[in-house]
Amino acid sequence: MCGIIGYAGKSPCQNILLSGLYALEYRGYDSAGIALLDNERFTIIKSRGEVSRLEEKMKAFQASESTLGIAHTRWATHGEPGERNAHPHKMGKTALVHNGIIENYKEAEPILAEKCYTFCSDTDTERAAGLIDLYYRETGDPLAAISRACKKLRGSYAFAVMFEDRENEIYGVRLGSPLLIGVGDGESLLASDTAAFPAHIDRYIAMEDGSISRIFRDGFQLFDMSLAKIKANEQPLTQISRGAHKDGYEHFMRKEIHEEPAAVLKTLAAYIKNGLPDFSASGVDTSILKQLSSLHIAACGTAMHAGLFAKFLIEKFLRIPVFAEVASEFRYNEPIFDGNTALLVISQSGETADTLAALRLAKERGIYSIAVVNVPCSSIAREADAVIYTHAGREVSVASTKAYTVQTALLSLFALHLGSLRGSISQKEAQKICFSLSRELPEKIDEVIAREDEVRALCHSISQKESAFFIGRGVDAHICAEGALKLKEISYINAQAYPAGELKHGTISLISNDFPVIAVSTQLCSAEKTAANVREVASRGADVYLIAPADFPQDGAKRVFALPKAAEPLLPILAATVTQLLAYHTALLRGCNVDKPRNLAKSVTVE
Ligand code: F6R
Repeated sequence: MCGIIGYAGKSPCQNILLSGLYALEYRGYDSAGIALLDNERFTIIKSRGEVSRLEEKMKAFQASESTLGIAHTRWATHGEPGERNAHPHKMGKTALVHNGIIENYKEAEPILAEKCYTFCSDTDTERAAGLIDLYYRETGDPLAAISRACKKLRGSYAFAVMFEDRENEIYGVRLGSPLLIGVGDGESLLASDTAAFPAHIDRYIAMEDGSISRIFRDGFQLFDMSLAKIKANEQPLTQISRGAHKDGYEHFMRKEIHEEPAAVLKTLAAYIKNGLPDFSASGVDTSILKQLSSLHIAACGTAMHAGLFAKFLIEKFLRIPVFAEVASEFRYNEPIFDGNTALLVISQSGETADTLAALRLAKERGIYSIAVVNVPCSSIAREADAVIYTHAGREVSVASTKAYTVQTALLSLFALHLGSLRGSISQKEAQKICFSLSRELPEKIDEVIAREDEVRALCHSISQKESAFFIGRGVDAHICAEGALKLKEISYINAQAYPAGELKHGTISLISNDFPVIAVSTQLCSAEKTAANVREVASRGADVYLIAPADFPQDGAKRVFALPKAAEPLLPILAATVTQLLAYHTALLRGCNVDKPRNLAKSVTVE
């Protein structure tokens, strides 16, 4: 998704801004641009495509000594991804970069047209720049102009704004999309993500929602929307929040899959004491957990698949209904918050706009909220009543892998915690599963990863097809949903997940020898039924790739990946790692850009 970086300081900032843009590339974007202010004149350079193209284009200009500038990577929402729509946008004396969406931008058009502003792009951003510029013309006061414009604009956004006649300062606005201030010695920065800050910046402030900042060489000020000064909460910049490196791996995705064992170990260690689950560090209110008569879960994409996995386990352990809903639909389906309920949101980034909106809705209704989040101090982490952190470390690859594996492991532990709190699981059983999750699981994931060549061998034939089914039953159906998402997002194979028994109610008509089927079977209770479904599709010509324990029925399967011997609750998580490797190697064989699939963004901060 879009990325912002701004610099006000003592050093020429062109390269600082460019490095910031490179660090933000992982978020996904389709154009980039920069505005530098020198002698009360903007130099604005934009380019379609990669940041390297922008850098190339900048070489045609004289190297700038400017110490004040803003830059942006754009992921198109309004208008095609071309140069004319790339940010920064300039209107009058105002240059602006923007993350997020302004829903009522059309309302600004007649106001601006009446004042003789003309538009050069299709973007909502340009209209916002126009409105700020108009009010700046009228008031001569940047803060008043920004606050007045923001009161007119509806949506969810973050801005970095410069004015041509203000050589020393940049303004930031946070209203729904994250914006951070980097604090340095004789310099201040604005960024949408800590990754964009240079290595020597060791402190930052996450701007509060509904706040405006003014940053300059010697510091910064923070205001609320009525321009009253507000206090800043400075935080140290930790290693995890910094830019990431591939450490010798060809792709971040592969590196992150290889990090899964360590990430699971670290995360679970934080929530186990004396061999039993202990979530006191998260601040979750145990008395609320004990009283729950139902639970709602909201999340998006891969995190939602972890949510469905959690639903399965919580319903199994607690025998209470769990309603899992993709966050973008949550509010439109008018959730019924009956009895003693709570909302669990799951998010790697902690910034996903739809998930945040679901959380806010629940909070408005007075519903207790728990967030499972990977990024400390992210919006969701700050707004939820209690936060259970996954300690997965930074995830750069657009396709989420280690975050998902850690989420499923942690949610298994959380479900166990709920079960033992409410007495539906005995202490002895809880101890046993706890041991399996924390000790056995990381080792077994390691075993799966060590057999990566075996997974790669399955991929040659799959990579030559354009469609695939993933089939499984019960909890395996959720693993299939994630496996299919991974395969389609990075290899562009049209992979669909189906509950294994559902195929014959229609979709089996698609089966042919051009339609491979990946079957996941990890649970003894459904092994025979899934085996029958494997035979059904194999006898209609499909090549079946079975992921299952070695002693499960295998007839009908063309190839089998035998899961390591492990306790049954661990097997679905191990199968998930196999499907991640399968997606990775299939995409590689198809020559796809694994870490940056087309049209996608790492952090989806628009609804
Ligand atoms: C797919 C993927 C996405 C994210 C989704 C939610 O590989 O990564 O489906 O899971 O956009 O993101 P978070 O977890 O950051 O809320």
